[in-house]
Amino acid sequence: MMVYEKCVPPLSFDGFTIHAEPGPRLLMAETILKLENIRRELELSKDVLQTIIPNLSFEVRVGEFVSITGPSGSGKSTLLYIMGGLDKPTFGKVWIDGEEITDKNEAEMTRIRNEKIGFIYQFHFLLPEFNAVENVSMPMMINGRRSRKEIRDRAMMLLDTVGMSNKYTNKPNQLSGGQQQRVAIARALANEPKLLLGDEPTGNLDSKSAGNVYELFERLNRENGQSIVVVTHDEDFANRAGRRIHLVDGIIESDRLLKGARSGVQ
Ligand SMILES: Nc1ncnc2c1ncn2[C@@H]1O[C@H](COP(=O)(O)OP(=O)(O)OP(=O)(O)O)[C@@H](O)[C@H]1O
Ligand SMILES: [Mg+2]
Repeated sequence: MMVYEKCVPPLSFDGFTIHAEPGPRLLMAETILKLENIRRELELSKDVLQTIIPNLSFEVRVGEFVSITGPSGSGKSTLLYIMGGLDKPTFGKVWIDGEEITDKNEAEMTRIRNEKIGFIYQFHFLLPEFNAVENVSMPMMINGRRSRKEIRDRAMMLLDTVGMSNKYTNKPNQLSGGQQQRVAIARALANEPKLLLGDEPTGNLDSKSAGNVYELFERLNRENGQSIVVVTHDEDFANRAGRRIHLVDGIIESDRLLKGARSGVQ
């Protein structure tokens, strides 16, 4: 999508007028995520290949909120892992925030994920020996931008946001499935990721907690301009996004803007 930037007014300096830009400037709308001709094959045995994603391309613009739906086994988690640099495509390229990630090594990918991506896993993968505050603190400790006190305060604030203020010191095995999932959501938000990727983030939640998570995501999207891609089986959630992609057998069957959708461009 193209947008026109308003004409830059001339600057006056000591009686001279400097025309900063001649006429309207053509800008490309910013893209947070781009997938180009993605193919993902799996080797099931020595000479049996399964094609999970045949050839898929699409872009997510900065500030978009996208939901991905599709039957079980249609390749949604595989696709999300490729978007987050957790899995590599067999062919094709992926860009995150203008940077091509396909050829990055594991150390570079760890840095990019830590700085730019918040990933909420379908099976949340909390660290069992650490409590809720420590689990949420971990990405911030690795990042090293905040002091210990700031990290702890922010971890508690994020846990409060997901309704877990009375479970700071519980370890994962002392939490229910839905509570663990909420800790995992708080952890994904720790470093204010530009791109939030969620694989069934409300899968284990009751309708009230799921409603709170939708509202939280909508707020992050609206107020912070964070781009969000969520895989979900939940129709209500899928239809609250600005854009909905339906995947069948690794192929985009439909990709449509929903009513009330916000443009990704401000
Ligand atoms: N490690 C693996 N080994 C073999 N097959 C796999 C592996 N991971 C995924 N698959 C296959 O890839 C296909 C897509 O799996 P994927 O997990 O992406 O589906 P999904 O759409 O996320 O499903 P669900 O809604 O059940 O989570 C499935 O047919 C699955 O059997
Ligand atoms: Mg899945």
